Amino acid sequence: MNNIPQHIAIIMDGNGRWAKARRLPRLAGHREGANAVKRTIEAAQKLGIKYLTLYAFSTENWSRPKEEIDGLMDLLCKTLDTYTGEAQQKNFRLLVSGAREELPPAVLEKIEKAVQTTAANTGLTVNLALNYGARQEIVHAVNTLLAQGKKLISMDDISAHLYQPAVPDPELIIRTSGEERLSNFLLWQAAYSEFYFTPVLWPDFNADELQKALDAYAGRTRRFGGV
Ligand code: IPE
Ligand code: IPE
Ligand code: MG
Repeated sequence: MNNIPQHIAIIMDGNGRWAKARRLPRLAGHREGANAVKRTIEAAQKLGIKYLTLYAFSTENWSRPKEEIDGLMDLLCKTLDTYTGEAQQKNFRLLVSGAREELPPAVLEKIEKAVQTTAANTGLTVNLALNYGARQEIVHAVNTLLAQGKKLISMDDISAHLYQPAVPDPELIIRTSGEERLSNFLLWQAAYSEFYFTPVLWPDFNADELQKALDAYAGRTRRFGGV
C-alpha cells in the first residue's frame, strides 16, 4: 500500500461528549484528548506521514465558557512543554497556524519556544491549528497582498500568503465524533481533499482508527475533475 497521504488534517472533535458520557467535566475530555494527540503523532510518524495538521482551537471556540477556555489554554501550555522536549528527541517539527497575536501571552511564549526549538527537525511536521479560522486566514492573505500594493490577486498569490505556505494541501481530512462539517477549517486547502468521518470520539482515537481512515483513503479515486 503506497497510497499514503503526505498530509493528513484532523478535526479533533468529541472531547465534551466523551466526558459527558462518563459524567466527567468537559475538561477531563480535553485532557484525554491530549493523550489521543500524543498517540496520533506517534502513529503518524511510524507511518511516514510528512505533515499532520491538528485543529486544536477555532476562532469560534472563544464563545465557550471562560472556565473551559482557561482550562484548554492551560492544558495547551502543558502539552506544548512536553511536546517541545519530545519533539527534539523524536525529530518532530512544530508549526502553529492561526491568529497568534490574540492568544494569551503565556501560550504565545510556549508556542514561540516550541516552534523555534524544533525548527531544524526533519521528521514529521505537526501543524497545530490554534485560534484558527479559515476565512480569517484567507482575508489575512488578501490583506497582506493588498498591503504589498497588489492590484490583481492570483490563486498562487493566495496560496503563498496562507499561514503555512510551505505545507502542501491535505490529501485527507479526518473528523471524529460523527459531525460532518468543516467548521471553518482549511477552506482554501480542502478544495480537493478526501474526507473521512468517523463516529469515534477524539479521546478514543488511536493508531487503529488512523489506519481505518488510511484504508478508506487508499480506496478512493481522486479525479481532480478529470475522467
Ligand atoms: C473538540 O471537542 C475540542 C475543541 C473544540 C477544543 P469538543 O469540546 O468540541 O467536544 P464536543 O463536540 O462538545 O463533544
Ligand atoms: C471544531 O469543533 C473545532 C475544533 C475541533 C478545534 P467544534 O466542536 O468547535 O465545531 P462545531 O461547533 O461543532 O461546528
Ligand atoms: Mg465539538
